[in-house]
Amino acid sequence: MNTRKVWVLGWPIEHSRSPIIHNYWIAKLGIENALYEKHAVEPENLKACLDGFRAASIVGANVTVPHKETAYALLTHHDNAAKRLKAVNTIVDCGTHFEGRNTDGYGFMANLKAGHPGFDFTQGPALVLGAGGAARAVLAALAEAGVPEIRLTNRTAAKAEALCRDLDLKVTLIDWDERAAALEGVRLLVNTSSLGMKNMPPLELDLTALPTDALVTDIVYAPLETVLLKQARERGNKTVDGLGMLLHQAVPGFEAWFGVRPDVTEELRALVLADMN
Ligand code: ATR
Repeated sequence: MNTRKVWVLGWPIEHSRSPIIHNYWIAKLGIENALYEKHAVEPENLKACLDGFRAASIVGANVTVPHKETAYALLTHHDNAAKRLKAVNTIVDCGTHFEGRNTDGYGFMANLKAGHPGFDFTQGPALVLGAGGAARAVLAALAEAGVPEIRLTNRTAAKAEALCRDLDLKVTLIDWDERAAALEGVRLLVNTSSLGMKNMPPLELDLTALPTDALVTDIVYAPLETVLLKQARERGNKTVDGLGMLLHQAVPGFEAWFGVRPDVTEELRALVLADMN
């Protein structure tokens, strides 16, 4: 049997933890002749790389920064999530063609559902901080989950507006300086900005107005417990860290390439955490 090779494409790619995740599952599930590798691709070479998949015996890929949007444009077939986000993070060999998919929204929701089973997304407003690449998937997922009101705030208001237009989402736009007041009545608070990440400024947010029964989550997972999550936990809010999103978004791709649905386990979390440390 030929080796089934999957690549993760990015520029740079050294930081990617996807090989740890997929190679853990390959070993754990005893999948033979499977290989998951980092593959650095400069932006101008992405097309040639995708065109060369068949010749290189590549059966699929993950796509990360800065290639997600270009991969969407280059591929001719997409799943609904990729169409909605106009971005691809997973590529699957469908025999006659390669299909671009997007599992980021799935990963975000699966992480919240695993971390806080039974959370009812329809019970009240969500406030989303940030309007970058990660926010796209989060906003679309929240709308799909039936969140009755989505509040969005971003340092650069024009980017938040453009994002809502692009995704055709009904969102209440909040001035960045008004973010603390916008916590009033919120059931779910999501940080998708890079604030709070290692080597980035902290996220400054006074949580006083946030109901203590609200759920708080952060896309940032280095550090695992961000200042936002710590502050929320200390005042009694339930929190879900961002590492699970990274782990859960990998599940559908692995299942599509290798035919087995893998589990997100504590052992896998520990493995990725050890690599981070
Ligand atoms: P990602 O793909 O991870 O979402 P990104 O597209 O670079 O990354 O987006 C980073 C987000 O963090 C943006 O919302 C950005 O705000 P701007 O749109 O105003 O740039 C936000 N962000 C980064 N640094 C920030 C800072 N110092 N203050 C406030 N927001 C910041």
